[in-house]
Amino acid sequence: MNLDFSQSNTRLLTHGFHKYPAKMVPQIASALISEFGANASLLFDPYCGTGTSLVEANVRGVDSIGSDLNPLAILISKVKTTPIELQTLELHLNDFYKYLFPFRYHLNPKDYIVVNFPRIDFWFSKEVKNKLSIIKDYVNSIENIDIKDFFKIAFSHTIRECSFTRNNEFKLYKMSEDQIKSFNPEPFGIMEEILGMNYLGLKSFIEERKNAKTTSLIYDFNTIDNIPQSIIIDKSIDIVVTSPPYGDSSTTVAYGQFSALSNQWLDLMENGRSLDKNLMGGSRITDLPNFESKVLNKDIEAVKKIDDKRALDVISFYSDYEKSIKNISTVIKPNGYACYVVSNRNVKGNILHTDEITKDFFQQCGFNHINTFYRKISNKRLPRYNSPKGEIGSRAELMNTESIIIMQKQ
Ligand SMILES: C[S@@+](CC[C@H](N)C(=O)[O-])C[C@H]1O[C@@H](n2cnc3c(N)ncnc32)[C@H](O)[C@@H]1O
Repeated sequence: MNLDFSQSNTRLLTHGFHKYPAKMVPQIASALISEFGANASLLFDPYCGTGTSLVEANVRGVDSIGSDLNPLAILISKVKTTPIELQTLELHLNDFYKYLFPFRYHLNPKDYIVVNFPRIDFWFSKEVKNKLSIIKDYVNSIENIDIKDFFKIAFSHTIRECSFTRNNEFKLYKMSEDQIKSFNPEPFGIMEEILGMNYLGLKSFIEERKNAKTTSLIYDFNTIDNIPQSIIIDKSIDIVVTSPPYGDSSTTVAYGQFSALSNQWLDLMENGRSLDKNLMGGSRITDLPNFESKVLNKDIEAVKKIDDKRALDVISFYSDYEKSIKNISTVIKPNGYACYVVSNRNVKGNILHTDEITKDFFQQCGFNHINTFYRKISNKRLPRYNSPKGEIGSRAELMNTESIIIMQKQ
């Protein structure tokens, strides 16, 4: 399989609707579905994030189910996989332009509700906050739910572009005072531009589906606990295509922090930051499990020698990961596939071999290992280096290679 997509457009179809940390490259999902899901009718992504694999399943005539605990991710996935009547959308886009007109030119505009939540003034200038509140009022007034959600996603992207968060950071870091002085975003124009781009993306998504009746359903169940039988019955999934988190949110990617401002503006969560502790590995366990994976036990021993607490974080993460794989295994059909896109991260100077560990966990659940493909990460927005021991000058390569593990159920 050719897995070098460095020259590919990763924003095609609806894939460019919204930024998100550690997104899957759409061409990988596409290649995996073509190779291992040629006759599939149902795909499952248990950590669907912004729904990359769901979109790719959707345009290939494969129904799909996704799950994620982040309400913003669920909303993005829903919007990216929902075809909307384009003419109705165009009417709303024109209407929005007309709605903004009196605000733009100070022509006796309507009253609006100024949004407020803790520390809002820390992240937004007064002018931006007012303009975003004006946009929010419009979004709230839309009656058609699918169109409202389409606007919400463009609004969320606008919020991000107009806040004082540093652009290339996925954690919530504020710009420096100097950067703030020269930062003068125009929310109305940014929102219109994003709506325009997303409209084009949606149009090409609809064309690509070629009238297929494919559906994508997105939920918020946690596969670590269980998979509701009312949603997915045992042995019903043909293929899983997913990229699980690399580690717990506090030491890897903080999805909750990334989404906090949007989750608050959109009234999806009161305290967006609290999400991270609910995600995989987010809470430290007290009952130490006995892993059957030799590789994992060796990796844990190596971290333990340096830092007991960090070893406990690692154990907590893989304990959740193992439970999740056990539950996911039960819903896959015999001969069905699990395709996991993972990266081996570095903790305290030790590589954690998630590729091997994933293989071990699935083998314990009656799967055969078909192949593991490796590829250099070229366009993922992730930290490429960290200082694994926290020492200045000690930089270790971090997650520069991606492993794609293919397992088949016996
Ligand atoms: C690497 S991202 C997935 C990105 C996705 N493939 C995409 O292209 O957008 C991992 C996702 O797992 C989610 N997550 C973490 N722990 C979870 C859990 N226990 N159950 C469901 N989702 C979880 C995070 O919210 C995040 O969206």
